[in-house]
Amino acid sequence: MAKITYKDHQGNSKTINVNNGLSVMEGAIQNEILGIDADCGGAMACATCHVYVKDEWFNKISKAEDAEVDMIDMAYEPKKNSRLSCQIIVSDELDGLEVTTPEKQS
Ligand code: FES
Repeated sequence: MAKITYKDHQGNSKTINVNNGLSVMEGAIQNEILGIDADCGGAMACATCHVYVKDEWFNKISKAEDAEVDMIDMAYEPKKNSRLSCQIIVSDELDGLEVTTPEKQS
């Protein structure tokens, strides 16, 4: 289990305990985090789960596959720390992870 902090672009945040094996997106959906719609259910086909990963965490999580990078290119305002939250799988090592939703997804 890991504590994941979800922030919106205005800095409002919610910290949730998310079980290992779930994605950061699934943790958001189960806890009604606004700004993560996950329209495709985690199939890497919508980018409505796009988040910015706090810089200090970006290199600690597994790298994005090419298909994820391609989808991020189509997301709203991608940045160098962009990820699809459906592709970040929670483990104990992610305890303290912080992600922020883009303004347009709020
Ligand atoms: S839920 Fe659709 S790309 Fe992540």
